[in-house]
Amino acid sequence: MAMLEVKVPDIGDFKDVAVIELLVKVGDTISVDQSLVTVESDKASMEIPSTHAGVVKEVKVAVGDKVNEGSLLLIVEGAGAAAAAPAPAPVAAPAPAPAAAPVAAPAAPAAAGGLVDVVVPDIGDFDEVSVIEVFVKVGDTIRVEQSLITVESDKASMEIPSSHAGVIKELKVKLGDKVAKGTLLAVVQTAAGAAPVASAPAPAAPAPAPAQAAAAPAPASASVPALPALPAHDPTASKGRLPHASPTIRKLARELGVPLDEVKGSGPKGRVLESDVQGFVKAVMAGEVQTFAQTAAQKAAAPAGAAAGGGAFPGLLAWPQVDFAKFGPIERKEMGRIKKISGANLHRNWVVIPHVTNHDDADITDLEAFRVLLNKENEKSGVKVTMLAFMIKAAVAALKKFPEFNASLDGDTLVLKQYFHIGFAADTPNGLVVPVIKDADKKGIVQISQEMAELAKKARDGKLGPADMTGGCFTISSLGGIGGRYFTPIINAPEVAIMGVCKSQIEPKWDGKAFQPRLMLPLSLSWDHRVIDGAAAARFNVYFASLLADFRRIAL
Ligand code: COA
Repeated sequence: MAMLEVKVPDIGDFKDVAVIELLVKVGDTISVDQSLVTVESDKASMEIPSTHAGVVKEVKVAVGDKVNEGSLLLIVEGAGAAAAAPAPAPVAAPAPAPAAAPVAAPAAPAAAGGLVDVVVPDIGDFDEVSVIEVFVKVGDTIRVEQSLITVESDKASMEIPSSHAGVIKELKVKLGDKVAKGTLLAVVQTAAGAAPVASAPAPAAPAPAPAQAAAAPAPASASVPALPALPAHDPTASKGRLPHASPTIRKLARELGVPLDEVKGSGPKGRVLESDVQGFVKAVMAGEVQTFAQTAAQKAAAPAGAAAGGGAFPGLLAWPQVDFAKFGPIERKEMGRIKKISGANLHRNWVVIPHVTNHDDADITDLEAFRVLLNKENEKSGVKVTMLAFMIKAAVAALKKFPEFNASLDGDTLVLKQYFHIGFAADTPNGLVVPVIKDADKKGIVQISQEMAELAKKARDGKLGPADMTGGCFTISSLGGIGGRYFTPIINAPEVAIMGVCKSQIEPKWDGKAFQPRLMLPLSLSWDHRVIDGAAAARFNVYFASLLADFRRIAL
């Protein structure tokens, strides 16, 4: 087995380019054309392929080393005849045009103040390469040699610079387009007197080659004395766009759907390495980081104020940005903690749960008379029996009869609860909270009334602990003490239904012979249509109302 030297082939005008990635290690079996290292200049990166097949015995370069044509990369134990004959300029090399150097493109002479076509210059062996980044847009003012697009082949990516300064009037390429030498990129309105980088015919003109090292000024630059003040490369030109990464890594990121511009590169100059892409995927999967798209979607689901700037969902209008002070005096007030938390929860529930609300009425004439009587009898006990306490008991009975209302969704599984913890919405100076009466099925009306009074006080005093507000199965939201007829309560996830009640009123009800004055309680039951059907909801309401109409039924 012969020991063979693998050297950097002819890479055109790449001089002293830095090795930024080693793609093989000692012991690896490599094939001809397999990428060995990635080198990078400030405009391009390319992978250097192997000229031989065999087993890597020694790696002669390290990350950070500068290499040129002929630099020794590896010692390979050749696979006998399988080894490719070392060629001075192996076909595998991403050989840019040897003449290539500076970024400037062959430029059509620009009439002072006229429109000029900016085309893809001679890019060596790169035929039909894909546009993977577009740095400019119509209306942008560009400089000579400013990068317009990035193109990418299998082995290299490079930025294509402008041959002219001026204002972009038309942009002729978009992401994904294939371009080759001569493809029209943009029509540029040149400023009067603005000189193109070179007016020489193509052969003499510089080609952007896969690289243009700022440190290695190109011969053609020297032939453009009018432009010495222009930097050969604007290091800010591609900031905020795609970060440094080799074509292999870009391809990997595309395949995995990784937004490369969000991956923090750990390589030299912040270059994104394979391990960075892998780490990013792992972190997203573990929920440790969110992609920008995820964050944007979450923001869109956040309270309206937080969604300012919105438009996170395609097609959704951005949140209106209004300078209210233009129309009159205003005061800005930060939302309180409870409002922010409950707002975010309510918004999520409203967006995620397919809500339907059924309205009905319960005749509580007799129950209210009973409640008033009870309170009169128990005046001295200090415990006021409330209508809400009766409703909590009625809710327990209805949940027992319709178990899918006492449930939560866990993926595709319905978790049916055999306990009965009922929450009630409490309005406090700081916002809405939902304390929970635990094991309401085991408690009487008076005890429930007493616990509710205690919890409502704790809520108003801001003293509810997490244990007071968790574990609920079903919620009742009563606006009865305030007014209104019907409303659409939002389900308190992960519960699947909520009963909203409004103020009872005396209404004329036909008893078959005459209208009778009856105290009617408006009910609004919101339910999760993923779990509950309309018929079941109507039955739940009817049963719930029948219990309030004749509370003796609870004992049945
Ligand atoms: N119809 C008519 N009157 C009613 C009623 C109803 N449905 N419900 C209560 N009332 C009466 C009560 O009898 C009481 O009258 P009284 O003082 O003459 O006895 C009065 O309204 C006040 O009752 P309230 O203090 O509200 O007691 P409650 O037990 O009905 O409710 C809370 C207690 C904590 C639920 C309630 O104070 C509360 O905060 N409700 C708001 C809930 C909310 O904001 N929901 C909206 C969520 S989107």
